[in-house]
Amino acid sequence: MTIQETAQDAVPTGTHGHGRRPRREAPRFVRGRGRYVDDITLPGMLHLAILRSPVAHARIVSLDTTAARAHPKVKAVVTGADLAERGLAWMPTLSEDRQAVLATDKVRFQGQEVAFVVAEDRYSARDALELIEVEYDELPVVVDARRALAEDAVLIRDDLPGKTDNLAFEWESGDAEATRAAFARADVRVVQDMVVPRVHPAPLETCGAVADYDRVEGRLTLWCTSQAPHAHRMLLATISGLPEHRIRVVSPDVGGGFGNKVPIYPGYLCAIVGSILTGHPVKWVEDRTENLVSTTFARDYVMHGEIAATRDGRILAVRSHVLADHGAFNAAATPTKYPAGFFGVFTGSYAIEAAYCHVTAVHTNKAPGGVAYACSFRIAEAAYLVERLVDLLAAELGLDPAELRRRNLIPPDAFPYATPTGWVYDSGDYPTALARLLETAGYDDLRAEQAERRARGEPMGIGLSFFTEAVGAGPRKDMDMAGLGMADTCEVRVHPTGKAVVRVSVQTQGQGHETTFAQIVAEELGMATDDVDVVHGDTDLTPFGLGTYGSRSTPVSGAAAALAARQVREKGRLVASSLLEAAPADVEWERGAFRVKGDPGRAVTLAEVAVRAYGPDAPPSPDGQGALEANVCYDPASLTFPYGAYLCVVDVDPGTGKVSVRRFVTVDDCGTRINDDVVEGQIHRGLTDGIGLALMEQISFDEYGNCLNGSLMDYLIPTALEVPEWETSMMVTPSPHHPIGAKGIGESATVGSPAAVVNAVVDALAPYGVRHADMPLTPSRVWEAMQGRAEPP
Ligand code: CDP
Repeated sequence: MTIQETAQDAVPTGTHGHGRRPRREAPRFVRGRGRYVDDITLPGMLHLAILRSPVAHARIVSLDTTAARAHPKVKAVVTGADLAERGLAWMPTLSEDRQAVLATDKVRFQGQEVAFVVAEDRYSARDALELIEVEYDELPVVVDARRALAEDAVLIRDDLPGKTDNLAFEWESGDAEATRAAFARADVRVVQDMVVPRVHPAPLETCGAVADYDRVEGRLTLWCTSQAPHAHRMLLATISGLPEHRIRVVSPDVGGGFGNKVPIYPGYLCAIVGSILTGHPVKWVEDRTENLVSTTFARDYVMHGEIAATRDGRILAVRSHVLADHGAFNAAATPTKYPAGFFGVFTGSYAIEAAYCHVTAVHTNKAPGGVAYACSFRIAEAAYLVERLVDLLAAELGLDPAELRRRNLIPPDAFPYATPTGWVYDSGDYPTALARLLETAGYDDLRAEQAERRARGEPMGIGLSFFTEAVGAGPRKDMDMAGLGMADTCEVRVHPTGKAVVRVSVQTQGQGHETTFAQIVAEELGMATDDVDVVHGDTDLTPFGLGTYGSRSTPVSGAAAALAARQVREKGRLVASSLLEAAPADVEWERGAFRVKGDPGRAVTLAEVAVRAYGPDAPPSPDGQGALEANVCYDPASLTFPYGAYLCVVDVDPGTGKVSVRRFVTVDDCGTRINDDVVEGQIHRGLTDGIGLALMEQISFDEYGNCLNGSLMDYLIPTALEVPEWETSMMVTPSPHHPIGAKGIGESATVGSPAAVVNAVVDALAPYGVRHADMPLTPSRVWEAMQGRAEPP
């Protein structure tokens, strides 16, 4: 791995918090001491297993649980009818739809929850599922979104009054008329249909819960795999009718989320019902197949894209129509006003006059969802669309794709930059990022090598992408989930001995928050990072907030942490002034200590202040609250917009169509970096994702709606074997509206990298007359393309 010197490396990062340091959670994980939901064992705990539909669409004719109930180790068997009696058979989704907890009338996708068993052990619960007799009356299925609105398509959502078709929603963004006018003026127009296939976030830890309902106290504790514990508590209270203040949601260590653990799943509710019914704690943990087949998928966009430009390569407009497959229930996790997520950011990193997109979302007989798989709500689809279109346009114009990008990138002096679809990018220096990428990669030499190899019949491809992410959802006036405004709270408390605790509402799933939030606070308070502890993942112990997805932790909660620490510092200044015997106005904060202006040798640290702050002669706290405590809810002014320039080099085996990624060169800018090592780790993961998405990953179905990818043998995810040595470098353009200038980075690379890989493969196949091929570019699909045939997506 090469880590280039960065702008930030040249600038002192502060004496205390920020900078490279090992993740403090690492020893716990590498020694197998992580504590995940499945590690929780409570006295008297029972185990829950879910009976799932073997078919994709059917009426339930009869359901007989007699034999299962008679199993000696079974404590409860619950059906949809049982839940319906308690008003619990349906639950709201995060996208203003509803979803069956257990099927009552019909099953609408393979793997849908039909009944559950609670037994003394996991094996008996599974065995008893086989004793439940269900008679299904099979119905026609809709598998292909392109057939969902056909006249003769079977109606999937006949549970919704008045529903007569499979339309989930329609949504548009941009100015259709201005875009039409720009297209009419253009010299060149390029059109391409492309598919971003259904994929799965596939976290290594599947979803699960342990519910413990205390009948005496009327209190529920739910340990669950949640990326958003506070939002989940509110939803669980609403659905179950249990009072919110008597529900405690604990999200312990989470083994990867990637959007998969944002929604509420029927299994969580089943575990709660199981515990209420039996009076015992109840554990439910999915197996791999359940996770892949029934929990929320991502992407599944069939896109029609158009781009218009002048002959000399100035892009005038982009336009797209998307057919979005949302499965049987619309359980996408996305802000309410944005049913197609942030797809509206599809003008990418270019100064484009006009843009318009229209999204038609449909129901099919597939698992519900449409989550932001390591991206900010559909922005991965948007970045892919525009980056493929730009490459197609370059080919049409006979221009080098790097040169076409260079001519159209948003110039640095245009920031803050308003896109034609209404987004305001905060900061960036795009041309420098591209120039640095091309120089680092040795672009001209690569093109020369490619020409030589082509002459020898060796397909080599060079792919570029330049992406802009939009991360840090809110502000809450514009963005909410299930009616909860998207803001986050942080509480900082410095104890009398000068040690601090920071409590956050976001939820790490492996991103290293325990290290980086401590660093943010340490930097602001002039303390050692090791003296700051981070508490998260427990609604009883942390302040309210919307949780972690869409790389929002640093842009939102990180800002709250910095501001709360600054408030504590302000309180400390009053105490310091009495210690230093100087007027408060004469005490300044410099180099991690309170110093007397003009006499910097007279100084005290916050740790020294802390003892006095709690002492009998402490000055009164200015806000009447704790001596060195602060609680800040940060409602972001806007999103932050990290960006990056990527270059991928591939070799294609002409005999088999197998693609090997030889090099991956990147420049990322996420503003101020808190911890370079953590940022690097996030980028490595995202780049690995990009290779998986571009070359391997797809959830597919047969004509009956059977899911064909129920294991990691069938759903391929990349390993160390498929990835090259990353060649990463950084730029730092702080966000002007974030207190420490930081932007999110968790998902940038997943958003930016698939287009670079696909552009590289298509570039390699250009001598074979290939203009486009859809992901995943498996050996067979690539080989077919080389023969002039398209394998159906
Ligand atoms: O919301 P999520 O944690 O997934 O994404 P993020 O806010 O982009 O942060 C991912 C990890 O990278 C966290 O540990 C952040 O503190 C760290 N990070 C950083 O060190 N510097 C940044 N500018 C952005 C994130």
